[in-house]
Amino acid sequence: MPNFTIHDFLKKKKEGRKITMLTAYDYPFARIVDEAGIDAVLVGDSLGMVVQGLENTLPVTMDEMIYHTKMVARAVKNAMVIGDMPFMSYQTNVPEAVRNAGRFLKEAGASAVKMEGGAEIAGHIKAMCKADIPVMAHIGLTPQSIHRMGGYKVQGKTEEAAKRLVEEAHIVEDAGAFSLLLEAIPMGLAKRITEELSIPTIGIGAGPHCDGQILVLHDVIGLFERFFPKFVKRYANVKEEALKAVMTYREEIEKGVFPSEDQSFK
Ligand code: KIV
Repeated sequence: MPNFTIHDFLKKKKEGRKITMLTAYDYPFARIVDEAGIDAVLVGDSLGMVVQGLENTLPVTMDEMIYHTKMVARAVKNAMVIGDMPFMSYQTNVPEAVRNAGRFLKEAGASAVKMEGGAEIAGHIKAMCKADIPVMAHIGLTPQSIHRMGGYKVQGKTEEAAKRLVEEAHIVEDAGAFSLLLEAIPMGLAKRITEELSIPTIGIGAGPHCDGQILVLHDVIGLFERFFPKFVKRYANVKEEALKAVMTYREEIEKGVFPSEDQSFK
């Protein structure tokens, strides 16, 4: 099966088939996500929180994103790999943004980038498209704006804020984004945006009407415990399983059960 592409994103929307996405940050988990048949893997800057143990995503650097994206791209055979532009890799100016976006394709093996923002990144999207770098835009709750937003809060709840988000959605589509990620907005608003746009919407905390869905892998498998947003559904408790295994290993060493003859050479 060939790798999923931006054309498949559009095709699935046209055919009314849901697009499936998850984050991944390293080789073993990216293998699992790919083997499960997920369409696209986002190497999200959420890795700052779920892998690096940071308070928020702001300190994550371009070099760290490239390092993780390389591992994911090496693991993936069918899914599309999308690299997430970290804070201050694109906000300063367009040429720097294009250079950094290009690193995801040139050095790390991604096929596209994701960038937080609406109207303020329209120029960036245009310049990236000119350089043949496909862009997924991201509006609603944009975690890099945590200090402006005053926390991780649902966006677009007032009529005025909802209207603004609809406008932003059209602006990024017109600028050339191949897809739009909608985070933490009311489901009715996500439905309206999804119906109005011709590019696919991918929701996280945006209800069931988006063209596709994404969650953070570590939330889905139970490996991130610091907080649990309402929109997350946990499908496994890997933390508990891993803890049990490591505790049993420790106990077996202490009791002299491990290693046995089976794990020893004669
Ligand atoms: O960084 C990330 O993982 C994201 C998702 C929350 C969509 O942007």
